[in-house]
Amino acid sequence: MRIMLIGFLCLVQQGFAQFTDYNVTKEIQTKAKSVVVSAHPLASEAGAAVMRKGGNAFDAAIATQYALAVVYPQAGNIGGGGFLVAVKADGEKLAIDFRETAPAKAHRNMYLDKKGKANTDLSQNGRLAVGVPGSVAGCYETLKYARLPMEELLQPAIDLAEKGFAITEKEAKLLNETKEDFLRHNKTPIVFVKDTPWKAGDVLVQKELAETLKRIQKFGEKEFYEGKTAQMIVAEMKKGNGILGLKDLKNYQIKKRIPLSFDYKGYEVVTMPLPSSGGVLLAQMLKMSAYENLSQYQYASPEAVQIMVEAERRAYADRAEYMGDPDFIEDRTPWLISDDYLKERWASFSFSQATPSAQVGRILSSTEESPQTTHLSILDKEGNAVSVTTTLNGYYGSKVVVAGAGFFLNNEMDDFSIKPGVPNLFGAVGGEANAIQPGKRMLSSMTPSILLKDQRPAIVVGTPGGTTIPTSVFQAIVNIVDFGLSPNLAVNLPKFHHQWLPETVAVEKNFSHDTRKALEQKGYVFKERGPIGKTEIIAIDDQGHITAVADSRGDDSVAVE
Ligand code: GLY
Repeated sequence: MRIMLIGFLCLVQQGFAQFTDYNVTKEIQTKAKSVVVSAHPLASEAGAAVMRKGGNAFDAAIATQYALAVVYPQAGNIGGGGFLVAVKADGEKLAIDFRETAPAKAHRNMYLDKKGKANTDLSQNGRLAVGVPGSVAGCYETLKYARLPMEELLQPAIDLAEKGFAITEKEAKLLNETKEDFLRHNKTPIVFVKDTPWKAGDVLVQKELAETLKRIQKFGEKEFYEGKTAQMIVAEMKKGNGILGLKDLKNYQIKKRIPLSFDYKGYEVVTMPLPSSGGVLLAQMLKMSAYENLSQYQYASPEAVQIMVEAERRAYADRAEYMGDPDFIEDRTPWLISDDYLKERWASFSFSQATPSAQVGRILSSTEESPQTTHLSILDKEGNAVSVTTTLNGYYGSKVVVAGAGFFLNNEMDDFSIKPGVPNLFGAVGGEANAIQPGKRMLSSMTPSILLKDQRPAIVVGTPGGTTIPTSVFQAIVNIVDFGLSPNLAVNLPKFHHQWLPETVAVEKNFSHDTRKALEQKGYVFKERGPIGKTEIIAIDDQGHITAVADSRGDDSVAVE
């Protein structure tokens, strides 16, 4: 077994606190061992620890998610939602949708003023931005495939919250940058705000969150949705303009979906269907690029980047027009991913110049985007593979902490199209298909995915990053399958992103200058931006060798059983 420790956090050991000294492990190579990759070393370790106690990948997914809710408060959550895609060792494929829903009092114009102008501050910050959380229900649905009792799976998170853990430099920076927002949106003091700036190694203790997790541990899922925690959420709503009520919580239900499956060059891709656009976009992008035989080109070559950007442009135009919650709109997935449709869509592609976005979709307006959310990839030694992406939406969601309960509530309502053509946090625009309706799930981009070869897991992959999620998963896959890169390079080499609108190709620092210049001559406009995603990948080769890689862009870390 080979372990690469790329970062090392050497933090002061506090007598009373256990979790102040831990390693960040960026890559593990192993055989016949269970592995977890997540956004934080303590969360990955929580997952690995329950597998050492006899748990499987589903146990690990639950323990890791709860631990992330403590050690990675910017995106880990119990106040948000997400999606789980899994392939069990016996071949059964699962997709659990624990996406948030719009409260009963929500309506399509709730973020418009009297003149019809959209107020994105209200859809992105504070109590009115909150959708009905699904994460706790998602964990209980996952439990049906796990081995250990929920009480045991919650314990690592409870210990981390109660005893405290040393925060990383990145978390400290983000907490400091968000301080003003925390003060603006909370009426009582919260543990995430202190007088002096946070720094790496500071110990964050979350007693109220520990108590909330203990209540769930004692009374189960019902406690969160109907018990004291539910009452605290609603009391928090009443401190401002929140509309989420007790009935919304009581009525919340996960949905079992049929995973979206399609073939790509000898692999079966198993991914998330609507209400995430992620799987549909991934299928569209992979299929359109295959029409140009992408694998004849190299990673980051002008030809490869042009093909991929044009596939992205066409897919994201369809996202804006056709995608939303399939329980409320016609699900056009079979048509959208059919060769008949995609070949026609691809007919306008030309190597000689960029396709104008207006030519592939109805333009209303556009803006910028930013990253967040979190992903975990898990493989156990029995062959169960689990891929989970979960989110509060923006960093720390709505910025509202439930008083007395100690956790952040999401700002997922902004993932609806609050007005046709008005861009959300990620610059994504939408229309009728993703309009707000009570009980509806807002369109997502999350793309937890598993690629099978000969019906066995070959790649487990996913990432945070808002609308950059599908394009990052797309790149991670073609980097391995088409360009033959190692999993480490597939994750860590510079990425790019196009989402139809804005009409620019966003690139990470160090993206090939020559390719950029070559494509600028064909009419492409490039814009450098910060890191794209934090991709967590597990790759299994034909001999059963496992390579688990945690993205170097964050504190992400691999743990082994
Ligand atoms: N909130 C980000 C997403 O669901 O795609």
